[in-house]
Amino acid sequence: MEKIVVSNSGQLKGSVYIDGAKNAALPIIAASLLGTEPIILNNVPKLSDIEVILEVLQSLGAKIEHLDKNSVKIDSSNLNGYEAPRDLMNRMRASFLVMGPLLARFGKTMTYLPGGCAIGKRPIDLHLKGFKALGAEIHEGIDKVEAISKDGLKGDIIYIDFPSVGATQNIIMAATLAEGETIIENAAKEPEIIDLVNFLNKLGANIKGAGTSAIRIKGVEKLYGGEHTIIPDRIEAATFMIASAITNGDIVVENCIANHVMPIIAKLKEVGCKVIINEDKDELRVIGTDKIVGTDIKTLPYPGFPTDAQAQFMALLTIADGQSKVTETVFENRFMHVDELLRMGAIIATDAREARIAGVPKLKGAEVKATDLRAGAALILAGLVAEGKTYISDIYHIDRGYDDIVGKMRSLGAKIDRIND
Ligand code: EPZ
Repeated sequence: MEKIVVSNSGQLKGSVYIDGAKNAALPIIAASLLGTEPIILNNVPKLSDIEVILEVLQSLGAKIEHLDKNSVKIDSSNLNGYEAPRDLMNRMRASFLVMGPLLARFGKTMTYLPGGCAIGKRPIDLHLKGFKALGAEIHEGIDKVEAISKDGLKGDIIYIDFPSVGATQNIIMAATLAEGETIIENAAKEPEIIDLVNFLNKLGANIKGAGTSAIRIKGVEKLYGGEHTIIPDRIEAATFMIASAITNGDIVVENCIANHVMPIIAKLKEVGCKVIINEDKDELRVIGTDKIVGTDIKTLPYPGFPTDAQAQFMALLTIADGQSKVTETVFENRFMHVDELLRMGAIIATDAREARIAGVPKLKGAEVKATDLRAGAALILAGLVAEGKTYISDIYHIDRGYDDIVGKMRSLGAKIDRIND
């Protein structure tokens, strides 16, 4: 079984280049099903999740051409069906993002219910609420869901009870070709929503208000071809910013939009780090400190502290001086990394949504398991400062969201390897 082994690495120093955002590339690739002319995407990260969604599109008849490591050409002009393949849908929840485009394109679609996963049951009620509001008839089976809109989708005002990222994206994509105007109220405001809308507008869509909680979509007849560069991955950036903090290092994070990581910058300053932003070069520098001070974080929908950086920041707080509190408000079960950090000597007590941490002077290396993609990253961070070696298994989770995190960490001075155990 493949594992990552991390040893105590001292201060990480140097610069690291951030890849394109996984959570922008996934919806944008799904959205390319809406168009009938070829599109080109640049800065697409090389991740297993991206391979899966490209396979889903291929199974639907789209032509995929890899132009280079991070650029892909997609031609959805001749799709052969509107039913997403079960095996691929089960491999990755985000494949559910093809439902909106297929419904818009064909007036019907059959997709398989996305699996829940370690961090929560991941319902899709808000996605379906949106499709129903646009006039689709929904038939839910045990593990699949069919949507049919006999006389085509018609715009409407849709309030989503939680600013769900995926539901906002799926409804935007369905409404893009609907008749009339759709308004999504209480929409998610993540940068990945803005990137999806910028992409769609480039192809001829008419969407305003992305980044606010009210998004207005005026349906158009068709979408044309175009080219788009995916925004940088703010969560990968956050991971390396925290790597500098936890090792008292000095890291320049390149290809990072500071505005997308404001909560991380604020919290790293609270714990005693220095953050120097260089706006004109889209990069920032994080200088650690030998005395991390405890603080509290609370995850919230954007622009609040991102749930996808919660595990990584918790790793930092386990070696802070003093008490800290982590409140997870977005997912109901996103503390799986706590048990693994406890095995490394951390002191953490949790209830459903809250973890209280008492900082310890040192963690110790242990055999641990990545329980989800961000938890895996957190264990790498903990391993960088733990005494001895840390062996991380189930690293396929990490490969879903990070392209060569081992190579990037090693280039900063980390003692880290992939091994076959
Ligand atoms: C996206 O997932 C991201 N994934 C997640 O990143 C991220 O953690 C999450 O947004 C929150 O920011 C992708 O973009 C591919 P949600 P998504 O719908 O869209 C509830 C990572 O590590 N909800 O905003 O699935 C849901 O239960 C991944 O890269 C409903 O109740 O997240 C959850 O509690 C992990 N009904 C909350 O909303 C619905 O119909 C947030 O979920 C949909 C969601």
